[in-house]
Amino acid sequence: MEQVSIDELAKQYGTPCYVYSKQAILDVYQAYTDSFASLNHQVCYAVKANSNLAVLGVLAQAGAGFDIVSRGELMRVLAAGGVASRVVFSGVGKTYSDIEYALTQGIGCFNVESISELTLINDVAKSLDKPAPISLRVNPNVDAKTHPYISTGLKDNKFGITHEDALAVYQQAADLSHIDIVGIDCHIGSQLTEVEPFVAALDKVIELIHSLRNAGIELQHIDLGGGLGVRYIDETPVSIDEFAQALLPKLSELGLTVFFEPGRSIVANAGVLLTQVDVLKPTEHKNFAIVDAAMNDLIRPALYQAEMAVIPSVLPSDGIDTDGTQPWDIVGAICETGDFLAKDRLLSLATGDVLAITGAGAYGFTMSSNYNSRPRASEVMVSGDSHQLIRKRETIEALYADEALWQAQ
Ligand code: LLP
Repeated sequence: MEQVSIDELAKQYGTPCYVYSKQAILDVYQAYTDSFASLNHQVCYAVKANSNLAVLGVLAQAGAGFDIVSRGELMRVLAAGGVASRVVFSGVGKTYSDIEYALTQGIGCFNVESISELTLINDVAKSLDKPAPISLRVNPNVDAKTHPYISTGLKDNKFGITHEDALAVYQQAADLSHIDIVGIDCHIGSQLTEVEPFVAALDKVIELIHSLRNAGIELQHIDLGGGLGVRYIDETPVSIDEFAQALLPKLSELGLTVFFEPGRSIVANAGVLLTQVDVLKPTEHKNFAIVDAAMNDLIRPALYQAEMAVIPSVLPSDGIDTDGTQPWDIVGAICETGDFLAKDRLLSLATGDVLAITGAGAYGFTMSSNYNSRPRASEVMVSGDSHQLIRKRETIEALYADEALWQAQ
């Protein structure tokens, strides 16, 4: 990775360990800003994909804004040097205290998902005597053609305000004393590999922008959410440039600032999860390689049947040698059959080998847990020939340090 041997990193920092390339993150961020350079735009990186302070700090320094879904994510952004006015606050369940904190910090925009949330934001804004900038998240009822768990723009999904109701809700918002309407927002899902659903959603949103103009409601920005997919194994996602080419003609006519909320596409392929083979267990039907990472470290395969590439950390100089390979299931040591990281991968393995699971920079560490009392992995960032620990491996003692024995009589 960059100029660093990941095998050396595994030796120095131990496994399991997430490793991220600073340059790879910046390259994708730059691809977004270059592709949309002809428009006023703001990339608001979706923090949920990877919220390590170092990752946020690198993006904040490059000028990124952020898309957050909790007070915790906002606190991280601010701790990493992000600017609150470039933050959009998404999510269906913002609480009174989340809203109060965000408004006090000077948040850029609340992406509102229901009438009840709109009223709550107005109440908080009134109590602070500070108008709240809002956009409505519109649910355009467009099929994102992705895994059902990460599809969000269909009318059966819990997200957003339906296209049919949006105009009326905007009119309601315009009548509220402490609501400042600034934009319109839409996010239809994640890991989209085709551009058509984005275009279909944009068309629906543009229709609404015209109806709003006719009703005397002028906006400053349009937020197209995130969702651009990446290549994990053999997917062929649309490139950022193709994505821009498809949207730019429609967007430039609007005369609005454009926000994007990419998460996965910025960090997924900037990161790997390093794991060591602890036990080889060939059986009559299947070969299992039991590694020191597990579903608690990387839940995407178990949760979404996601397929992520697994490569040896040391590649022979003439490329991957297929001689002597066998199909292996790469599994963790957790007591669940769903605890697998990859299935039927042709590899030549020995105990002690270090494997890299690629595409692990997004929704890897952030979705990890302590299931089976396993401390969460360490995280390392690489830049050029230097590398740095950006999160210590948790200690086992820390896992129960905040617990207490029952003492009441
Ligand atoms: N904006 C909103 C409002 C979102 O809900 C999301 C992701 C994003 C932006 C960023 O989407 P991205 O560019 O990363 O696709 N854990 C799942 C993905 C869940 C995505 C949730 N929302 C996975 O590992 O595949």
